[in-house]
Amino acid sequence: MQRILVTGAFGLVGSDLVPELQKQHGVDNVIALGRQTIADNFQGILEQGDVRDQATMAALVKKYDIGTVYHLAGLLSVGGEKHPDLAWDVNGNGLKNILDLAKEHQLKVFWPSSIAAFGPTTPKQNVPQHTSLEPSTIYGVSKVTGELLCQYYFKRYGVDVRSLRYPGLNGYKAAPGDGTTEYAIHIFYGLIKENAYSCFLKDDARLPMMYMDDAIKGTIALMEAPAEKISVRTSYNFSAISFTPAELVEEIKKISPDFQINYQPDARQQIAESWPQTIDDSRAREDWGWQEEFDLAKMTQALYEGVKAKLGK
Ligand SMILES: NC(=O)c1ccc[n+]([C@@H]2O[C@H](COP(=O)([O-])OP(=O)(O)OC[C@H]3O[C@@H](n4cnc5c(N)ncnc54)[C@H](O)[C@@H]3O)[C@@H](O)[C@H]2O)c1
Repeated sequence: MQRILVTGAFGLVGSDLVPELQKQHGVDNVIALGRQTIADNFQGILEQGDVRDQATMAALVKKYDIGTVYHLAGLLSVGGEKHPDLAWDVNGNGLKNILDLAKEHQLKVFWPSSIAAFGPTTPKQNVPQHTSLEPSTIYGVSKVTGELLCQYYFKRYGVDVRSLRYPGLNGYKAAPGDGTTEYAIHIFYGLIKENAYSCFLKDDARLPMMYMDDAIKGTIALMEAPAEKISVRTSYNFSAISFTPAELVEEIKKISPDFQINYQPDARQQIAESWPQTIDDSRAREDWGWQEEFDLAKMTQALYEGVKAKLGK
């Protein structure tokens, strides 16, 4: 079989996606592309490189007879605001490189957009599939551009590129970064280490979220759906649960009733306020049968157990 290349393989999403793809397709059929961070205990085929480097990417496609790319490499909301030029370069030119290779080698591509594609002029509740996309971060700007580029390559060149607007994703396999939604992972480190956490968002900052297992399941389901079922070639609205820090704390207190929380909002609160609170993802449900499994209670339990095991507690 043609092999699968995963870029950004050691980030938050890749750390869960790569093992699942290995399980489904065999360890020898999945190539993990890392850049700086490589997991110590990684088992599988590892390559290192920069997605902006067209020659390296082309050589990898040839060397491994790649048929599908899950293109996860990129800068996110907080990193993007620290380094806007770099975010534009990696997110924009990195994606264009992959799409150009897909055009040349008939690759199937997955590339995630984000709720960061939305902005202050987007409705806050039940955001429809087609809506105002006027983000206020460079990350969001790169996602809107990427969505349009994907649709253009599909319509103009027939590239089979598929995409989801990921909400905040909560997993425990990779160490959490400094992303706007990642308080919902850091809070479990606080819970397990000191039964307390200082939250960088306000208690009522409601955001669309999803447990990582659901995101991986949805991503693979989208890629396996017959092409005629895919009616959206920009990026699908994709949603599971929406909650506030206070609601998550209520769930955590069922595990640890004397858990201490305090709120010290920083610049990420402004980013959170520019994003919607709930998303209408009925197109994904109708087109290719998207259905989540994890609600807030189930996600809380899974993250608690996962982070506890990771910390060896
Ligand atoms: N994590 C979330 O909640 C979330 C939400 C919405 C969308 N997404 C999207 O999902 C994708 C993966 O996100 P993540 O959370 O795993 O991010 P992450 O920051 O954890 O991982 C991204 C990886 O990309 C790598 N990378 C950065 N620049 C690179 C370059 N030039 N060449 C090669 N690799 C490079 C980094 O080393 C990092 O390991 C991104 O496109 C992101 O925008 C994530």
